[in-house]
Amino acid sequence: MSLTLPTPILPDPAAVPALRWGVIGTGIADRFVLALHAHTTQRVVAVTARDAEKTAAFAARHGIPRVAESVDALVNDSEVDVVYIATPHPLHREQALAAIAAGKHVLIEKPIAMSADEAREITDAGRTAGVFVTEAMWTRYLPQTEILRLLLADGAIGEVRLVTADFGFTMPFDPSHRLWNTELGGGALLDAGVYPISFAASVLGTPTDIVTRGDLGPGDVDARADLLLSYASGARAFASTSLVTALPVVASVIGSEGRIDLHSPFFGPSGITWTRGGMGSDETATWIDDRFEAVHEGLGYQATAVASYIGEGLAESPVHTHDDIVGVMHVIDVARAAIGGQGGGDGVPAP
Ligand SMILES: NC(=O)c1ccc[n+]([C@@H]2O[C@H](COP(=O)([O-])OP(=O)(O)OC[C@H]3O[C@@H](n4cnc5c(N)ncnc54)[C@H](OP(=O)(O)O)[C@@H]3O)[C@@H](O)[C@H]2O)c1
Repeated sequence: MSLTLPTPILPDPAAVPALRWGVIGTGIADRFVLALHAHTTQRVVAVTARDAEKTAAFAARHGIPRVAESVDALVNDSEVDVVYIATPHPLHREQALAAIAAGKHVLIEKPIAMSADEAREITDAGRTAGVFVTEAMWTRYLPQTEILRLLLADGAIGEVRLVTADFGFTMPFDPSHRLWNTELGGGALLDAGVYPISFAASVLGTPTDIVTRGDLGPGDVDARADLLLSYASGARAFASTSLVTALPVVASVIGSEGRIDLHSPFFGPSGITWTRGGMGSDETATWIDDRFEAVHEGLGYQATAVASYIGEGLAESPVHTHDDIVGVMHVIDVARAAIGGQGGGDGVPAP
């Protein structure tokens, strides 16, 4: 028997304010700007990054009218409404605080910062300044995530008992690459682990207990980590991440009456299957997000949602609150401390 999935209701790109974006960085920002200009009414009007020549080429490629000579100049550009920060994680805090101090809304690449303390400092500063601040956890804004939310709200799989999620890949050791370099925020947990941990948080909230098993790799960064999270409801989550193993990059939510599987790569537009009953059940429904050729084209969903929230005068994303962002960073703090190395530390405080 086939089931019927709910229809996701997402903001219409044409119905949200067409904001003027300032971009910091030219790495993943390339795919962000492509997605914005192809799939939304948002427009990038200024960019800055450390390499002037590369930044000028980036601006020319994307039809961005202004190259700002510094972060300070970009955030103080009176024709920029919202700043997108896409630099290595250790730079996020300072750049976000500068944008907020200049009165700009800000979307900060994942992870929002290096720790829960930094995350709280950023979100508190945004709240005080009366601007919108969020982490670019774009998974939260995908149609499949909205379907998941609607199914869970409807009790489609009964009582949720287990969430599993993973994101790992093989990244050859290169001491100069940000993933293997502690000074650039290296390690699997901050870069990739944030996705499965945030996915678990989106379904189950804040864990009451965190058990970590992980290994340091060369460069003294966490090369892999497996987390068992427990929740007051009795539910648990497994979250895995790795720089040395190509994991399947899937996520599942398993309940007393069935399960929901997010297809690979679960963090981007992929697909969702709802199954009622257990193994061998033919009561199932699947929706595939086949709108795009490249997975990162789905970054447009997030930009449209951010513009709609800014239009509504919100301080935080209703589907990704400041407490939620800080809570995920706290889990990462605890896991990094448990694994040790330069990236970790002792006595990680509660958020
Ligand atoms: N949403 C997603 O799917 C996604 C995907 C990838 C990354 N990210 C996140 O986006 C952020 C940036 O990642 P990325 O892969 O784009 O990084 P990246 O390519 O290494 O660097 C991005 C930008 O930051 C500049 N930069 C690098 N190191 C710097 C330094 N020490 N000081 C000043 N500027 C520096 C780079 O300049 P140069 O070009 O001169 O090196 C580049 O313009 C990270 O927080 C990451 O987690 C998100």
